[in-house]
Amino acid sequence: MDLGHDAQGNGGSSGPRWRNPTNVTGFALRWGPVTGTDTQTHKVAVIGGDGIGPEVTAVALDVVRAAGVDVATTDYDLGGARYLRDGEILSDETLNSLRAFDAILLGAVGTPDVPPGVIERGLLLKMRFELDLYVNQRPFVGTAPGHSHPHDFVVIRENTEGPYVGEGGVLRRGTPHEVATQGSVNTRMGVERCIRYAFELASTRDRKHVTLVHKTNVLTFAGNLWERTFNEVAAEYPQVGTAYNHVDAACIYFVQDPHRYDVIVTDNLFGDILTDLGGAVSGGIGLASSANLNPARTGPSMFEPVHGSAPDIVGTGKANPTAAILSAALMLDFLGESAAADRIRTACAEPVSGSTTEIGRAIASRISV
Ligand code: IPM
Ligand code: MN
Repeated sequence: MDLGHDAQGNGGSSGPRWRNPTNVTGFALRWGPVTGTDTQTHKVAVIGGDGIGPEVTAVALDVVRAAGVDVATTDYDLGGARYLRDGEILSDETLNSLRAFDAILLGAVGTPDVPPGVIERGLLLKMRFELDLYVNQRPFVGTAPGHSHPHDFVVIRENTEGPYVGEGGVLRRGTPHEVATQGSVNTRMGVERCIRYAFELASTRDRKHVTLVHKTNVLTFAGNLWERTFNEVAAEYPQVGTAYNHVDAACIYFVQDPHRYDVIVTDNLFGDILTDLGGAVSGGIGLASSANLNPARTGPSMFEPVHGSAPDIVGTGKANPTAAILSAALMLDFLGESAAADRIRTACAEPVSGSTTEIGRAIASRISV
């Protein structure tokens, strides 16, 4: 079945398709001022979460305010600790109330006392799916071990499909005949809107290059959909160069030749794994930031560090707040406060040592306006 052809009645093998009659894939890649004023108050829902999450988000918000941005915050007590207290993970009512915000800033969720998957699926993935945060944008700037000059690339991870959807199930659990399946869901619409975002982003960058990362030699059904869609979208962006890497080879290049990359686009699970590696070669996971974006702006986008809740260091002051601060900078970009976001990034570029709050104060003092 060829979904693109069937759905559109369009038999052409190349050129623009799904040109957006219902605005399904449409968005404006708008990182500049939204309103034209710099005095807007942005309504931000804050989910500090578990472990070091509340510590690093508090510091990130101090830095945002030091940059002169007006944010009106509302705290949401969600995460593993809340779940253990009264069973709430993310009710539909709470989810709906989040829709009223301009953005969501999240620290980290998950505690060792809650079985794996409960909070991840029930809170984080529920927000990604229900708020249609279909792009997970993760920038990596740093000098990889053994290299002498910095790389600067960004991973665009599809964020609402793939193996994360939870397709599959289990039969005869706990018996020698147990069967477990977990499929990967890839829709033409979902793949195309993610790839299109990557090309739009690349068009705004100096190098104007997009690499598709997949495993087309083994995952021939999904890989072929990604590859065809990539090639068709690429034809609309003649000014953007392209490449393809298998995901295993990309792991080598991340370490040995990260400078080859500008924008990478990939599926949900490959993107999850690759972005931990991206963090590791770009100064550590303590610096890795992310934006879960709804580029169509039909609701709020969500911003969170790539790292987890690190319960082992909670309350010790050892948590590096930089990833949360840089995630807040991505939030400011998306809210049309790019000048403040740039100032924050510049302030974070020089390493600072000290406790969580000391690092925050040092960065804030560099940008105070
Ligand atoms: C991430 C995290 C999440 C993911 C987990 C916590 C569900 O690892 O944001 O990279 O796998 O997407
Ligand atoms: Mn991850």
